[in-house]
Amino acid sequence: MWELARRMAERLRRTSRVRVYGHIDSDGITGAAIASEALARAGVEHDVTFLKRLDEAALAVVKDENPQLAWFVDFGAGVYDKMDGLDAVITDHHVPSEREIPREHRKDLVSFARAEDRVLMLNPHLLGEGSDAASGAGTTYLVAKAMDLRNTDLAAIAIVGAVADMQEREWRRVTGFNRQILQDGVEARVLDAKTDLRLFGRETRPIHKMLQYASDPWIPRLSGNGEACIAFLLELGLEPKQEGRWIAWNELPWSQKRLVASELVRHMLDRGVGWKEVERLVGETYTLLREESGSPLRDAKEFGTLINACGRYDRADVGYRVCRGDRDEALAESLALLRGHRETIVRSLDFIDEIGIQQLTAIQYFHAQDRIRDTVVGIAASMALQGPGANLALPIVAFALADDGVKVSCRGTRELLAQGLDLAAIMQQASRAVGGEGGGHKVAAGATIPPGTEQEFLAIVDRMVGEQLGRASGFSTADGLTFM
Ligand code: C5P
Ligand code: ZN
Repeated sequence: MWELARRMAERLRRTSRVRVYGHIDSDGITGAAIASEALARAGVEHDVTFLKRLDEAALAVVKDENPQLAWFVDFGAGVYDKMDGLDAVITDHHVPSEREIPREHRKDLVSFARAEDRVLMLNPHLLGEGSDAASGAGTTYLVAKAMDLRNTDLAAIAIVGAVADMQEREWRRVTGFNRQILQDGVEARVLDAKTDLRLFGRETRPIHKMLQYASDPWIPRLSGNGEACIAFLLELGLEPKQEGRWIAWNELPWSQKRLVASELVRHMLDRGVGWKEVERLVGETYTLLREESGSPLRDAKEFGTLINACGRYDRADVGYRVCRGDRDEALAESLALLRGHRETIVRSLDFIDEIGIQQLTAIQYFHAQDRIRDTVVGIAASMALQGPGANLALPIVAFALADDGVKVSCRGTRELLAQGLDLAAIMQQASRAVGGEGGGHKVAAGATIPPGTEQEFLAIVDRMVGEQLGRASGFSTADGLTFM
């Protein structure tokens, strides 16, 4: 990886003008910021463009632009075999286009890249690793480091990209190549990693709000109930409000954090929550040491959410400027986008309540038409699944109209995952059957399908989910403990 990164760095440095193309999500935005910062420090002129996706049509536009050298960040792997005619470097972590090449032979792609030389790709799949071993920002970081060893301060933004891409979710800490990046960041004194509560808002939310909005894990009686959260804190002898101001979790001394954490564990166990779920309360958390206390940029998860909000509302440029260091105008704009995003979510959930969620045999669904943005419908689906109008025992499928077809978002739960659910495979196959395309992760996947094929698509998904869960019914039903 390092040797390849050095060759890419060499190439970038030799080019007089580079065009950076970044994926318009938090990983792509953080990655493009890292690329741009490294190029700027090396004195290489460059432009940055954000794209929703890099499919063949988008690639044709890039080819028309005919850049001296293109740098694709957080995408490119999917069209790796269609880059002929371009000079490009790709820093990505998605599955390379040669899907039929078995995992153990993907290494051959490295030699292909070498022989070809015009297109160089850095991607954990080339080493037989999965998409979670590094993010788009992480592979970009490696090239930035190869351009100049002093660029290790950019590890902080690379970890934001990884966390925003949910790479710490499964193991409750980043793994694979991300650990090397983390170590670089710690050594460069820009990052700190600590075991702490994994809940969102440690830096900026009042503690009771942080508890109230807990969804991973869900805390019985506290999640969704702010007053119960305040009572819980008061009973422990804490003062959540000091001098007229609600304090944030990170303002608590360590001893009080420990008290709250252990009481939360007891509270959940007492209410019959399985240990596997309880465990999810705590994990590795990442602090950006150069950011101010109380700033949403100090916590990697909050930083990532802010950048995400920019991408979702077509303002990747704003998130990009925050990542490049703008703490005035761009930061204020990103905060406004995040506030707007939260309001949008509330309105979306109200709308789903209004139209209701329809239940089929093995799945449930709703069709938001043009009332929920295609970039938000996935979150709306996740949240609706937790809500009172849904059945947590069934995966949820959500539709929304997009400019290139009907956007599908599908979400399951960890329990369903343990029972054998694989939504990525289902979204891929079912969408293909109706002339669309899709994929993703086992518990969270998506697709785009042609308008009018929704019912046919639903029937296929319903059948496939039934088969998957039926097939796995010989295993235990997940009550948490079984899977320790
Ligand atoms: O868009 P949504 O949040 O529902 O996407 C969930 C997952 O599905 C993401 O990882 C995304 O990359 C994947 N997906 C996909 N193909 C699509 C849409 C989403 O692979 N057409
Ligand atoms: Zn990514």
